[in-house]
Amino acid sequence: MGDDPASASYVRQKEKAAHGLGFFSETTVLPARTTEGELVGLITSLNADPRFHGILVQLPLPPRLSAERACGAVSPAKDVDCLHPENMGRLVRGDPYLLPCTPHAVHQILLRSGYPPAGKHVVIVGRSPLVGRPLSILLSQKGAGGDATVTLCHSATPDLGAFTRQADILVVAVGRPRTVTADVVREGTVIIDVGVNRVDDPSHPKGYRLVGDTDFGALREKAAAITPVPGGVGPMTVTMLLVNTVAACEAQTQDAR
Ligand SMILES: NC(=O)c1ccc[n+]([C@@H]2O[C@H](COP(=O)([O-])OP(=O)(O)OC[C@H]3O[C@@H](n4cnc5c(N)ncnc54)[C@H](OP(=O)(O)O)[C@@H]3O)[C@@H](O)[C@H]2O)c1
Repeated sequence: MGDDPASASYVRQKEKAAHGLGFFSETTVLPARTTEGELVGLITSLNADPRFHGILVQLPLPPRLSAERACGAVSPAKDVDCLHPENMGRLVRGDPYLLPCTPHAVHQILLRSGYPPAGKHVVIVGRSPLVGRPLSILLSQKGAGGDATVTLCHSATPDLGAFTRQADILVVAVGRPRTVTADVVREGTVIIDVGVNRVDDPSHPKGYRLVGDTDFGALREKAAAITPVPGGVGPMTVTMLLVNTVAACEAQTQDAR
């Protein structure tokens, strides 16, 4: 909904990836004046449309609309962003249907790069329902892929550096450039930078460039590994959306058999 340029760019990336893999996908762009009733009406019609096995509401919505109500209107079976309360509840219970895309992306980056979280101290900066909080649940789950000890930091954490310095694995999902600088990270830490921020850059053709939440230039010397922005968590998040769509399709077609 609306004309947020960052949202438009994320939607384009998702469309491109879906088409590249031969998925049928459709994007509906609603004007910013759309009412909540109209939005929920559209979602309800997509819930019943057998052409779609996955639906996502690109956030943020205009502030006068409730993201909770919009995401709650998506059928849990088609909720490929994993933001429906039923799917969030299943994740908390340790019985997930699908995993939320960005936490799943972070998890897969760690596992596939040879940094399994088991037995490690993972410090996450940012507790949003989209990233930090579900990631803390995923990584602290008992059993394979989990078993980390997790500390979840936020804007009311006093002396953030006292926590980030203890991290074996540090995940930063704040939305503010240079939230984590080299002086608050130990040598050898594994860093996942989730943040995506536009900073003015007159030398760039677009007049801005994208940076993460960490001081990448200084930290790449100190960290055991660090994800770049752009090109790190973002593309992996899109991949996990497609993974979820395949899983949702399989679940729904099995149900129909
Ligand atoms: N790459 C991707 O695929 C992807 C996906 C999702 C998000 N993102 C990016 O990740 C970033 C975070 O997204 P989000 O949706 O989680 O954002 P959000 O909902 O705004 O949450 C930000 C979190 O950071 C915390 N915070 C803010 N300032 C802080 C500070 N100075 N010290 C410690 N914690 C602080 C906030 O604390 P409070 O809770 O106390 O307010 C909040 O928990 C954004 O840049 C977003 O664009 C990237």
